[in-house]
Amino acid sequence: MKVTVSRKAHFNAAHRLYRKDWTHEKNDQVFGKCNNPNFHGHNYELIVSVTGEIDQETGYVIDMKVLKDIIKDEVEEAFDHKNLNLEVPEFKDLNPTAENIAVVIYNKMKLKIDSSLKLEITLFETPRNFVTYSGN
Ligand code: NI
Repeated sequence: MKVTVSRKAHFNAAHRLYRKDWTHEKNDQVFGKCNNPNFHGHNYELIVSVTGEIDQETGYVIDMKVLKDIIKDEVEEAFDHKNLNLEVPEFKDLNPTAENIAVVIYNKMKLKIDSSLKLEITLFETPRNFVTYSGN
């Protein structure tokens, strides 16, 4: 019997979408306003879901306090109020799209939770635009 538990989190961050190896014109064409050289911010909303068997002793899939602390250490401390392009090493050479941010969050968190648990990351870049990654 597998159960999914989820926790919401939030961070504010700035980014710019562009490729150094493309001309400004091509970056504008593909990334539009997101190529603004002065960066822009988003209020990212995150849902972290963990699926697994209920531990017979504790009744938990994962201790929510443990999950909360992992999100704090791996996501909030790393990304909140940061310029993703300039201040977060994972995006030095990786475009900080919602897709890539979700994958980076997944990879960081996957290392911190028990390997028997399935992890899924849902990241809202705006209230209407969101991406989901679960390691496939
Ligand atoms: Ni943007």
